Amino acid sequence: MKFVPEAYIMPPGTRPGNTKVPICENIPVIDLKADPTKLSHQIIDACKEFGFFQLINHGVPEKMLKDVLEVSEEYFKLPAEDKAIMYSDDISQSSRLYTSIDPMKEQTHYWRDALRHPCHPLEEHIQSWPQKPPQYREVMGPYSIEVWKVSLCLLDLISEGLGLEPNYFSHETEGFKVHVLSVNHYPACPDPSLTLGLPKHADVDILTILLQQMNGLQILKDGQWLAVEPLPNAFVVNIGHTLEIISNGELKSVEHRVVTNQKLGRTTISSFIFPSYSYQIEPAKVLIKNNSPPLYKAFIFKDFLATYVTDTCQRKPPLERYKLQA
Ligand code: OGA
Ligand code: NI
Repeated sequence: MKFVPEAYIMPPGTRPGNTKVPICENIPVIDLKADPTKLSHQIIDACKEFGFFQLINHGVPEKMLKDVLEVSEEYFKLPAEDKAIMYSDDISQSSRLYTSIDPMKEQTHYWRDALRHPCHPLEEHIQSWPQKPPQYREVMGPYSIEVWKVSLCLLDLISEGLGLEPNYFSHETEGFKVHVLSVNHYPACPDPSLTLGLPKHADVDILTILLQQMNGLQILKDGQWLAVEPLPNAFVVNIGHTLEIISNGELKSVEHRVVTNQKLGRTTISSFIFPSYSYQIEPAKVLIKNNSPPLYKAFIFKDFLATYVTDTCQRKPPLERYKLQA
């Protein structure tokens, strides 16, 4: 492809343009094997200031990280008729391949294809995953279990650091947390200055664990875009809106976007840890005190998901309508 089709050209003002975005040099790096007495504070500090951190020594084997990225790349290289099996524009379908974000509704399309499916518990969902490449399920299954364990560990550290009850994220009935995996493919693009792989957004979930091995992710820090450089074998972790609300605004869900590359396609794997759809989200009771009143109303996660999508498409901040007057 030589030119960017009209439908993919971002409106002026939202284009990345040609100016070089500086690298985020001081993004916190959290070592999961470091002194456990300090870990939870390090994570809380990172989530307060950046909303993002790189996670190293997380225990997921290097070979597994390599294999999942490889099988993901292979998936997107399959012949169209193999990919057509899972293709769907129906956003209510939980396992599907689709393009951009919501091609039926959005005005401009994003330079991305995505394969999305639930993961936990594995035996309930694996049948809905692709059958090709033949090793997809074999490789992605154990990976999803490992990432799930990492997420539980991080949530325990976060709840400790915030001073929540010890099992705030794990005492709930089974099914409180949902793990949805999104395998993203951003093909090489003839003009990255005009397009975006994903628009400026913050994630709606509790926590996102991203595996990447190539540049493309940028975060908005103090009004400036900064590029997140991949560290070998690291995960990029970020806080979603749901955790910002539970923490009563202490932890930040920070906006980010994805830019495209002229020469190379980029494949990443996002693991979204959501609350269950019927879960009531509200600031944790222990964080509400006389001098810190709740900043957000309570609401059901499913309803938030719906308004999040409409607000984000209309470039409105999705937390605004849930804010209480302090
Ligand atoms: C996302 C996301 C970043 C990336 O999936 O929400 O921000 O680099 N992905 O793929
Ligand atoms: Ni995101």
